[in-house]
Amino acid sequence: PSGVLADTLARPLRDLRISVTDRCNFRCVYCMPRAVFDKDYPFLPHASLLSFEEIERLARLFVAHGVEKIRLTGGEPLLRKNLEHLIERLAMMTTPDGRPLDLTLTTNGSLLARKARALKDAGLTRVTVSLDALDDALFQRMNDAGYSAANVLEGIAAAQAAGLEPIKVNMVVKRGTNDGEIVPMARHFKGSGAILRFIEYMDVGTSNGWNMAEVLPSADVVARVAEHFPLVPLEAHSAAETAQRWSYADGSGEIGVISSVTRAFCGSCTRARLSTEGKLYLCLFASSGHDLRALLRNGASDADIASAVAHIWQARGDRYSQLRGSAAAEAQEPGAHRVEMSYIGG
Ligand code: GTP
Ligand code: 5AD
Ligand code: SF4
Ligand code: SF4
Repeated sequence: PSGVLADTLARPLRDLRISVTDRCNFRCVYCMPRAVFDKDYPFLPHASLLSFEEIERLARLFVAHGVEKIRLTGGEPLLRKNLEHLIERLAMMTTPDGRPLDLTLTTNGSLLARKARALKDAGLTRVTVSLDALDDALFQRMNDAGYSAANVLEGIAAAQAAGLEPIKVNMVVKRGTNDGEIVPMARHFKGSGAILRFIEYMDVGTSNGWNMAEVLPSADVVARVAEHFPLVPLEAHSAAETAQRWSYADGSGEIGVISSVTRAFCGSCTRARLSTEGKLYLCLFASSGHDLRALLRNGASDADIASAVAHIWQARGDRYSQLRGSAAAEAQEPGAHRVEMSYIGG
């Protein structure tokens, strides 16, 4: 319907991250600590969830506004029943100039061995799998749900066999918890075709007890890897990329570091996030979203919804990571009851 949509910081809308469930079978300590996400936690009731029809309708309007990449997230997206059916619908969409979308998802990998083939057949382009440690005792302590690293590695292998490539592996680094796994993880994935990315532990939500002392800056991560395996910097694929890329000097692949704490990338942030219940969030650290489900369910036309989305995006000024800890951050999100990552989907 429109030309290029830009927000108040001249950032276009290019990526839509859609959370398809707020539930997860893991209880990662940095995301869904068991003490908070226990059996009494008020997960969303089924009727609150956007249906696949509703998601498809919104996705179509976002694509018309310039979105080129759609990532399904959660919680754990593979817990959503019949997710392949949603993927089939999304995979049929193209950009206004006729290119296919980059259609991917971020998963904990536990169900991937079973589902990789069906996801590929439905039209998924690639996957990103989270894995925080190879050491099983440590991995189980981090996911706090009894899943073994071998299970996730099987999922990664199945995704590779199905051709869901390039596969990215996300490792959240917590200093003092799993930083001893940096080099073993690098060694394991070097030469495998998978791209390992180290993520700085972030202060998302309000329940993970984040503190700066547990953040290991990406510069240190790169130094530790480079001590064993020399690295050379790579150019970014695009300005909006979250990761800084490095390749192994011997040509055996690449790694990335995502430094949202020490080197914020808000200046080029083109991401919008749609929650499981249809609220549009303009930042991972936002305290509230814009209710698109109400529009969907109150009979709004496509034109009404498209214009609402345009207005919301044009008013966007979020840049939390850049402001982190400053008075301006507090002013931007007063009171800062930030949404949980499991709800907004990373
Ligand atoms: P690619 O397209 O494969 O590069 O994916 P991505 O890096 O955009 O997405 P992914 O889900 O793999 O995210 C990796 C990590 O970066 C996660 O910890 C995300 O929470 C974090 N991340 C992604 N987007 C943002 C963002 O807009 N802001 C911040 N602060 N972190 C983000
Ligand atoms: N800090 C950094 N990354 C996080 N993730 C979840 N919680 C956090 C956090 N507090 C990661 C997941 C997944 C990605 C989408 O976000 O491990 O790889
Ligand atoms: Fe689940 Fe991912 Fe959160 Fe871990 S990080 S609890 S796998 S949503
Ligand atoms: Fe984008 Fe907000 Fe992350 Fe900055 S903190 S990169 S604005 S989502």
